[in-house]
Amino acid sequence: MADSLVTGGAGFIGSHLVEELVERGERVRVLDNLSTGSIANLEQVRDRIEWIEGDVRDEAVCRRAAAGVAVVFHEAALASVSRSVEDPRSTHDVCATGTLNMLIAARDAGVRRFVYAGSSSAYGASGRLPNREEQLPLPMSPYAAAKLAGEQYAMAFHEVYELETVCLRYFNVFGPRQDPASPYSAVIPLFIQAILAGKPPTIYGDGEQSRDFTYVANVVNANLLAARAKAVAGRTYNVATGERVSLLELIALLNRMLGTSIVPRHEAPRPGDVRHSQADIRRARDELGYAPALGIEAGMERSLAYYRKTR
Ligand code: NAD
Ligand code: UD1
Repeated sequence: MADSLVTGGAGFIGSHLVEELVERGERVRVLDNLSTGSIANLEQVRDRIEWIEGDVRDEAVCRRAAAGVAVVFHEAALASVSRSVEDPRSTHDVCATGTLNMLIAARDAGVRRFVYAGSSSAYGASGRLPNREEQLPLPMSPYAAAKLAGEQYAMAFHEVYELETVCLRYFNVFGPRQDPASPYSAVIPLFIQAILAGKPPTIYGDGEQSRDFTYVANVVNANLLAARAKAVAGRTYNVATGERVSLLELIALLNRMLGTSIVPRHEAPRPGDVRHSQADIRRARDELGYAPALGIEAGMERSLAYYRKTR
């Protein structure tokens, strides 16, 4: 049997969460369909987990995955804005319907707590920074809408079925094992890969767009807190650093840390892009006891060490 289930546990964030849970002595079950994740992400813990290769769009698979666990960490998703613009149906099926399937399975299995990987994309072009959880959501892409649907279902399952759901709105997570090799990869691995290869990174737009880049260890910590904290069921929490950095500032930071002077090239802005993003993390501090232990520079040191080693 397993204490916890991590869906999407072969992914970037999920694999870090699985590793930490296993290191803490938890019995962990992982469900993943390896569509964007890789079993290589779990090589440190492969023989210490219970592995299910399956799809959250399959209700029977969800039931099997949830059976007997106390906590579900639901990370499985298609996590790209640009991919959702090209193919909104798949993103909906995985992020919204897949989450509903997992919630039904968790409810029926008597799961104690369901921690949902939400997204700061829910805030969209809120125009007001820093973003606070009580703000009206403004989803600007099919991805943002599907992730928000998942979040709303999680809240409704707490309301109606008393399933203890907690939603964490992650802000632009980065760190080792974030995939640099997909057309849908996140900006930090793409920039690091280009600069390490001496090539100009591509900025979609003027580069003044900003993000609250959050090192993956902070996100893992927030999940562990959310699984145990009291009086947090039915609530949503920003998980971030509370600072924001523009893409031009990110390029300057990478050049400084790598001793390079690579100049980016610019292309047209991408549809569905949020312009600015920055979190107010007071609620997570006060109610989860969350604090971002690693800021962008410390996180980037660790990320650069990883990408240099694995290039
Ligand atoms: P990722 O693509 O590395 O991980 C997602 C995992 O889910 C992958 O292992 C993939 O194979 C799996 N998966 C996808 N579709 C599936 C399906 N139908 N059935 C089973 N497994 C499936 O992405 P990530 O960056 O680690 O994101 C993890 C979670 O965090 C996602 O829910 C994402 O929406 C959320 N999130 C990520 C960020 C970020 O900046 N990376 C920010 C906010 C929220
Ligand atoms: C990211 C996450 C998403 C998460 C969201 C909110 C990924 C792939 N996306 O979306 O899961 O919910 O944060 O936290 O992890 N850009 C460039 N050049 C590039 C790549 C990107 O200029 O080569 C720009 C984009 O146009 C955008 C910004 O960088 O303006 C960030 O893009 P990206 O890293 O894809 O993340 P988000 O779309 O913010």
